[in-house]
Amino acid sequence: MALPFFNKKTVSKDETGAIALPENLPQHVGFIMDGNGRWATKRGMPTKFGHREGAKNFKDLSLYCRDIGLRMPLLCFSTENWKRPQDEVDAIMDLFWDYLCDADQYLERRVRMVFVGDRSRLQDRLQKRMAELEHDSKDFEKMNLILAINYGGRDEIKHATQEIAKEVQTGVLSPESITEQTIADHLYTAGLPDVDLLIRPSGELRLSNYLIWQCAYAEYYFTNVLWPDFHANELNKALADYAQRGRRFGGI
Ligand code: IPE
Ligand code: IPE
Ligand code: MG
Repeated sequence: MALPFFNKKTVSKDETGAIALPENLPQHVGFIMDGNGRWATKRGMPTKFGHREGAKNFKDLSLYCRDIGLRMPLLCFSTENWKRPQDEVDAIMDLFWDYLCDADQYLERRVRMVFVGDRSRLQDRLQKRMAELEHDSKDFEKMNLILAINYGGRDEIKHATQEIAKEVQTGVLSPESITEQTIADHLYTAGLPDVDLLIRPSGELRLSNYLIWQCAYAEYYFTNVLWPDFHANELNKALADYAQRGRRFGGI
């Protein structure tokens, strides 16, 4: 299913067979993992069934991203998702736990795992496992897999502001010396590049407070496909779409 403008330099495979990828791939592709609930409802199943399927898809898709050389931040649970029924929140937290305990495929493939968001509200066992995985994968270079858990863009900026204010208070920084880079350096994503392409499946046309600073100049790709059905072939369509766009960053 190669598209006409594809350059055949990089060839990969998924369940649809050989697929050629465009030459100018984005480096940093963000995903909002949305539509799990609707996916389950369409099948007459409980929501947590959709989350399980979504997590499975995430595993497959992240390994595919690694193979084709993308870096990937993914929204797993937002600061706003605590508003959901307690049993759904519990089911999602249990899924994280299972997911984090089954991370060997990432470590074997030299994927660096990074977690962004406010961890303080998460279960101790999750916090501990996240720290272990970050530590064990810190020197891996094949991909940055960034998992946003209890993450909110405004919360992140508030947290960065508090950190900067403390440095001003203690005289480490002066107000005049604060630059955009200072702010970026105090975000949970410090040291990671901005998002080139942000993908949101499930038909919703919003950011939902995800990486609001880092997506300032991202390209956006929306599709009605629900997350559990967003497989490698759907990602390839998004990459092909991105490859056709002209990014100007305010220039000409
Ligand atoms: C997103 O799927 C997954 C999480 C919030 C963890 P949803 O549960 O929001 O799915 P829809 O939007 O209800 O279909
Ligand atoms: C985005 O989906 C959050 C996650 C994927 C974790 P939501 O379903 O929470 O977003 P809204 O409520 O539709 O904006
Ligand atoms: Mg949703």
